[in-house]
Amino acid sequence: MTSLREGAPAVVKREDYTAPAFVVDTVDLTFDLDPAKTRVLNKMRLRRNPGVAAQPLRLDGEELNLARVLVNGAGTSFKMDGQQLVLEKLPEGDEPFELEIFTTCNPSKNTQLMGLYVSQGTFFTQCEAEGFRRITYFLDRPDVMASYSVTLRADQTAYPVLLSNGNLVEQGPLEDGPNGPRHYAKWVDPHKKPCYLFALVAGSLVHREQKILSRSGTEHTLQVYVRAGDLDKTEHAMNSLMASIAWDEARFGLPLDLERFMIVATSDFNMGAMENKGLNIFNTKYVLASAATATDVDFGNVESVVGHEYFHNWTGNRVTCRDWFQLSLKEGLTVFRDQEFSMDMAGSPSARAVKRIEDVRVLRTAQFPEDAGPMAHPVRPDQYAEINNFYTVTIYEKGAEVVRMQQTLVGREGFAQGMKLYFERHDGQAVTCDDFAQAMADANPASDLARLLPQFKRWYSQAGTPRVQAQGVYDAAARSYTLTLSQSCPATPGQAVKEPFVIPVALGLLDAQGQELPLQLAHWTQPEQGSRTLVLTEASETFTFVNLDSEPVPSLLRGFSAPVVLEHAYSDAQLLTLLAHDTDPFNRWEAGQRLALRQALAAIQADGPVPTEVLNGAYLDAMRGVLRHTGLDAAFKELVLTLPSETYIAEQLDVVDPQRIHAVREAMRAQLANALHADWAQAFDAHQHNGAYRPDPVSSGRRALAGLALQMLCLAARHTGDPVWPGKALQRFKDAGNMTDRFNALNALVGSGHALAQNALERFHALFKNEELVLDKWFALQAGAPDHGGHILPVVKQLLQHPDFHLKNPNRARSVIFSYCNANPGAFHRADAAGYVFWSERVVEIDAFNPQVAARLARALDRWKKLAEPYRTAAREAIARVAAKADLSNDVREVVTRALAD
Ligand code: TRP
Ligand code: ZN
Repeated sequence: MTSLREGAPAVVKREDYTAPAFVVDTVDLTFDLDPAKTRVLNKMRLRRNPGVAAQPLRLDGEELNLARVLVNGAGTSFKMDGQQLVLEKLPEGDEPFELEIFTTCNPSKNTQLMGLYVSQGTFFTQCEAEGFRRITYFLDRPDVMASYSVTLRADQTAYPVLLSNGNLVEQGPLEDGPNGPRHYAKWVDPHKKPCYLFALVAGSLVHREQKILSRSGTEHTLQVYVRAGDLDKTEHAMNSLMASIAWDEARFGLPLDLERFMIVATSDFNMGAMENKGLNIFNTKYVLASAATATDVDFGNVESVVGHEYFHNWTGNRVTCRDWFQLSLKEGLTVFRDQEFSMDMAGSPSARAVKRIEDVRVLRTAQFPEDAGPMAHPVRPDQYAEINNFYTVTIYEKGAEVVRMQQTLVGREGFAQGMKLYFERHDGQAVTCDDFAQAMADANPASDLARLLPQFKRWYSQAGTPRVQAQGVYDAAARSYTLTLSQSCPATPGQAVKEPFVIPVALGLLDAQGQELPLQLAHWTQPEQGSRTLVLTEASETFTFVNLDSEPVPSLLRGFSAPVVLEHAYSDAQLLTLLAHDTDPFNRWEAGQRLALRQALAAIQADGPVPTEVLNGAYLDAMRGVLRHTGLDAAFKELVLTLPSETYIAEQLDVVDPQRIHAVREAMRAQLANALHADWAQAFDAHQHNGAYRPDPVSSGRRALAGLALQMLCLAARHTGDPVWPGKALQRFKDAGNMTDRFNALNALVGSGHALAQNALERFHALFKNEELVLDKWFALQAGAPDHGGHILPVVKQLLQHPDFHLKNPNRARSVIFSYCNANPGAFHRADAAGYVFWSERVVEIDAFNPQVAARLARALDRWKKLAEPYRTAAREAIARVAAKADLSNDVREVVTRALAD
């Protein structure tokens, strides 16, 4: 961070872990809150950690002004070593002693949004991972768990609401200050916690409240705090919180352990939300939702993030991480839990499959590239320069897949037993990923997981996405099908050679008509119906299925049973069979994606100009069949009819020409739009909804399909010049009863580059000029729109000059800059390198005040080595220009250094 800007960043290594030399039993904090100069009095009771050799106490601190240090009430000598406060003359022996530290800090100047900061006149904190040291000197590491009591003192008028972790035990007036009346509140957290879970909020907020009863009959108060004017957008968050509490009790027997549980929303936040004990702090994006301002996707995100942070109360807070290398212990497990929660909330098998497909799409478009690029790291990393750079899709989403595979190997009931044992063993402790897997295995001694545990744990230690190659040979005479599964994993930085993984491969066999066949391995006496999970452990293994009258179509890796790339030489006919008939909805969708992908790749790799006809008749017929199908849900159809993203297509290629990929995919979209025109029109008309808005899976699926249809119809109109559908889109935009329909209509006009788009954009801005989160959508839509002849970059530069653009607000910065650099490859990768120049300037500009956000943007060029010329050279030069800056943050320095390493 800021003050570490000199010299090479120090690398922290997992193998260097040692237990803390001191134990902190209690922390008593008193804050005098003032935006320019907040005073923090920190009284701790500490003791020497009995098992650790006597040594000085080294406390972390950052950007603090130190005024006083007392030991047992008396002055003491201390020294500074870099950022650390070092105390050498402490009482000997095991007796506890009191340490009092008085510091001040400047929250109004805190643009990093780590530690104590001010957002729109309200104080917030963000301490994970290492923000607490920006509030006071402390042993800022997750394995130091203490009991906290917190007194907040502030002006009554500006800060009527004073919140911290745990229970409110006292509050009242104080003597008047220079700005009028002052007051205080005292909070006591009944649970021990690491300092990264500390939080305070002070400001002028309103709240929605709900009392609930747990299964055992205890009463709890739930509160959602927002700015005045936003209360009508908190109902969905509150409902999601109640559903999360009920779900964790029902599925895992984990109750809410606090009398009071609070969620507070802020507009200025680096990430999605934070699970501070009893006082979750959220990005407004994941709290506020109303039919008029939020889309179905937003409603879904609110539900899953509220769930995620709530589930951390057990997985993360009650049992926390020993060190930050174990981050996935809480994040992978908690993402798995929020995914399961959303699936259980969705209900129907089809809606569950839709959620699974969406999650896998994120994994493939974001995590697979990470695992193949310069920032590749294991789910449990071995080293880092800046921990903030390791809040990644690998830790979160791949980590969740690793937990999911454990559930697959021990069964759903066995998994619940494993969770139970994990909490019996480790409640109140700071533990490791090993401890979790061990509990899972020990609770299921007869499982494949227990049998294979050491090998299974390679998922934690080896980076890279494994490839599984499947080869099938049918022997008509023997009536057998021999399936050979082979695995390999590409090298990643620092890991040249990989050992075989434990890979659960769920599969089924279909006949040529698409009927599911009974499965019988050669050594079984009885066939089995339906799916079966084979466990691949060797580099190559062979499985022979018997009693098959004809060559089967294998449906492999059902439900995406492992985070791998599955390669199999499917014929088009086999894929069409799977698309039409597979009983596994995931693989049905997957078959369609494979068909689209192989046609895209053929057109990309062919010589000559991009053909207008990329998709063949069989594929178009199949898509028409899906669109017309009476038995499939609209949400599922929308996924099948959405082509693989440009990012995903790029990952399949060794040399990437982003412009050619963009042109081919645009040609495919145009073809789908034109060839299925009548069916799109029919789909749009058939999926209208005139009742009250509800964001449930069925109605949101209908809106999603209608939205895609409208997009396709406007795209077709772009080619024919027919004004009818753009006119209908404008009409829909004007009289839509909810944000989903309105935004989809706007997107259809903007996405097809229609002349009516400009007018609609202006109206949209006028309608929502006071809604920050809607303005973010407005900015993002324009920065992410399809490029025509390079027009997007000038649009983006214009948007940065817009009076509503605020670079320091992370949501707003992301809405323009990230939408362009990360989510619009066709516009970003310009032959004249102007996109890269723009990127490097923004990285440096943002790094000066918010390294975390800058480092995320810095990763937009992670995959530069795959680019074709002239992009490759230009991208490297842009990265080198950033790297050449002398005063980069640790965060950005680590990203660009890795990007440039060979
Ligand atoms: N623990 C948070 C979560 O998973 C992540 C988080 C929120 C975070 N804000 C942060 C991590 C700031 C690092 C820095 O929900
Ligand atoms: Zn989390």
